[in-house]
Amino acid sequence: FKVPKAVNEPVKGYAPNSPEKAAVLDAYKKMWNTTIDVPLYIGSEEIRTGNTKTMSAPHDHQHIVGTYHLAEKSHVEKAISNALNSRQAWANMAWEQRAAIFLKAAELIAGPYRARINAATMIAQSKTIHQAEIDASCELIDFLRFNVEFMSQIYSDQPTSDSSVWNRIEYRPLEGFIYAITPFNFTAIAANLPASAAMMGNVVVWKPSDSQVFSAKIIIDIFKEAGLPDGVINVVFGDALMVTDTVLASRDFAGVHFTGSTHVFKDIWAKIGTNIHHYKTYPRIVGETGGKDFIIAHPSANVKQVATGIVRGAFEFQGQKCSAASRAYMPKSLWPAIKEQVITDVKSMKMGSPEDFSNFITAVIHEGSFDKLASYIDQAKKDADAEIIVGGNYDKSKGYFIEPTVIVTTNPKYTTMETELFGPVITIYVYEDAQWAETLKLVDTTSEYALTGAVFSTDRYAIEEATVALQNAAGNFYINDKPTGAVVGQQPFGGARASGTNDKAGSALNLLRWASPRTIKETLV
Ligand code: SER
Repeated sequence: FKVPKAVNEPVKGYAPNSPEKAAVLDAYKKMWNTTIDVPLYIGSEEIRTGNTKTMSAPHDHQHIVGTYHLAEKSHVEKAISNALNSRQAWANMAWEQRAAIFLKAAELIAGPYRARINAATMIAQSKTIHQAEIDASCELIDFLRFNVEFMSQIYSDQPTSDSSVWNRIEYRPLEGFIYAITPFNFTAIAANLPASAAMMGNVVVWKPSDSQVFSAKIIIDIFKEAGLPDGVINVVFGDALMVTDTVLASRDFAGVHFTGSTHVFKDIWAKIGTNIHHYKTYPRIVGETGGKDFIIAHPSANVKQVATGIVRGAFEFQGQKCSAASRAYMPKSLWPAIKEQVITDVKSMKMGSPEDFSNFITAVIHEGSFDKLASYIDQAKKDADAEIIVGGNYDKSKGYFIEPTVIVTTNPKYTTMETELFGPVITIYVYEDAQWAETLKLVDTTSEYALTGAVFSTDRYAIEEATVALQNAAGNFYINDKPTGAVVGQQPFGGARASGTNDKAGSALNLLRWASPRTIKETLV
């Protein structure tokens, strides 16, 4: 079995009258008119606990998408024991067979499930078709294909031997089970966190975000159809704290694969520390958390490129990417031209339901997020050191709609220059051209995070200065491009400082965290 060379899944265009547009709209309408009921998936069972919550569409919050069942502590314990019961057979399965399952899943998404998984992501996570396509289809397919290739490279990396000794490394899975906690904002990340650990022979308890239940259901359906044995990935919904505490209380807890907020990740880390004497093995802790991602333009930058970087980086998917640009530093000499272009671009963007493919912006994920964003916008309207130059309106009568909003501040430490908002709001500070070096320092020291960032310049020397000055400020650093949209296999993704453990998603580095290698020396007799 030779693993096929991974290639990135081409992004479909969804042009008017295209067959892919018709297919996704058809799936959207069918799903919109059906109420789904999502059980827990534990071992071979689909468990309906009867204790349910409803899911609604963020862009039309009166519309009930479906219900999902909440786990009690006993269900989480059952998920753990099912995972452990499935462990040996899965770990001992030839890795080529595991690879074949995930490659099959990639092909199911690329083909028969594409319209459905995109439509589910559009309905329940309020992504536009383009944002759904690059996430739920392309990025997810890429994660599966590339990780299979990385896995094959890991397994083939063997030590040297000679004629009297055979040295080898077995890349065993961890002894226990892995806990995957996943966010609402990327269907691809939600699938990849359990899948990458499982691919390496681990068994998993997966707790998706309450706001991503719908696409999580489709992911598990796909994995099962592709041949994933029962019990390898067990899905529980419910109270996050209860699920986490139950998981961390198990002696067999062997690692956590996390994407979510910084404070939750730090709490989990602290609890693992407190329980450390209880575990059979040192748990692996892998997490990607928040960001306060920056754009800095040098006076030599191309105005149109900077404006596009700001608008796309800050407002695609309503700014709800951990990579989204949310603070920007503009040189005084270019600012009038950049400002004019940004305002023109923002005003040309349509906001509304994802069903209308001409909308660029839809709703933010839920009322809590809407209210928080609205309060920051209201505060900026009052503050003397802040000015909203475009946007600033919001309306939750039908869906949680926040206009793309640009705040300009005279205070480089203004609240929204420092605090992660996770929505369509960017704050801009205008610096004196002569203060380039000082501004680089400001970029580096203003936020506790270090996920993504971008510099725009046509001056090679300035690019080099920024690259050096900001070497610890972003795990993904972009030169003359927006700081979002990392492509699997091209830009491995992750950040350090408060942004996470930087075990790059979609890379061999990440997969290696899910292996506990055994070195074997055999003297040939
Ligand atoms: N990988 C995404 C991006 O680069 C964020 O999670 O935008």
